[in-house]
Amino acid sequence: MQQGSVIREQTEHCATRRTCHTIPNDRLVERLVTIAKPGYDDLRAPATAIPMLGNVLIIGGSASIAPEIIAAFAAGARHVDVTYRHPLPPALDGNIAAHTCDLEDKDSRRGLVAALADLTGIVDVVLVLSGSILGKNLESTSDEEMDHLVSVNLLGPARLLRDLLPVLNAGARILLVSSIAGERGSFDPMYAATKGALIPFAKSLATWLGKRMTVTVVAPGAIEDSTMVRDMDAERIAHHRNASPIGELLSRADLARVLFDLAHSHWRHANGAVIRINGGSYV
Ligand SMILES: NC(=O)c1ccc[n+]([C@@H]2O[C@H](COP(=O)([O-])OP(=O)(O)OC[C@H]3O[C@@H](n4cnc5c(N)ncnc54)[C@H](OP(=O)(O)O)[C@@H]3O)[C@@H](O)[C@H]2O)c1
Repeated sequence: MQQGSVIREQTEHCATRRTCHTIPNDRLVERLVTIAKPGYDDLRAPATAIPMLGNVLIIGGSASIAPEIIAAFAAGARHVDVTYRHPLPPALDGNIAAHTCDLEDKDSRRGLVAALADLTGIVDVVLVLSGSILGKNLESTSDEEMDHLVSVNLLGPARLLRDLLPVLNAGARILLVSSIAGERGSFDPMYAATKGALIPFAKSLATWLGKRMTVTVVAPGAIEDSTMVRDMDAERIAHHRNASPIGELLSRADLARVLFDLAHSHWRHANGAVIRINGGSYV
């Protein structure tokens, strides 16, 4: 019996005798494997057993959505490196190391890569939370602000991943946090465009670097108690909530659970995919 597995009594329906009896989970798996096609050996690993992750790098530790995410990864990974643009937080727990990194600054990115090479040597998961939203329409967005959005939201992750290539483990999982705006559009067209541009970027890496890493874009809708939503008035928040068929904004805790799970290798077949988590407000 593998570690972490739970022996569950499974109900087996016997069609011929029209009776039901229970068999242990491991025996059920054993039977399924014998009738499954070759290549289905993964069935032997209980679906409920989530393996520990290796070394995780989280970019954007000061993001409003970050605390639950960092906590989830710290509990389920060997080691977590978290980056902050501004001063480091005072203290972090045992398996978490904090680094400064401004994605717009070449030396800062190089410093991060050097520190990772020294500290952990190899990175198994990269999660990019960083991003910038100005909440402005086209006519009020200056040239400098457009450059800033391109620089943080698109060039930041692109330059970072290029620089990280020497320290990425084979088969590393890369998660890029985009936005519902990246596919649906937004009042802030430059935010939408720069977040949307992550999608063909990720698809390109997924196609041409798929032997080295697998890349998945996560596109959340409005997130409860986040910077963006805190800046909205009550009417706007209600609009977003009502736009969702499930009548809720995404909670930070649920987002953390989704990202944590997506970081595992059983999601590698979502290489190049965009995972929409918006309650169905954009499908
Ligand atoms: N909030 C939502 O409802 C929502 C919905 C969909 C998608 N998203 C996406 O989710 C992510 C987090 O959102 P949030 O609301 O938590 O935003 P947030 O609180 O504004 O966090 C943004 C993060 O990006 C970092 N950052 C900005 N520029 C950077 C740079 N040049 N180099 C490195 N880091 C930089 C910030 O660092 P500093 O603190 O140092 O500025 C901060 O950690 C963003 O990518 C956003 O687009 C959010």
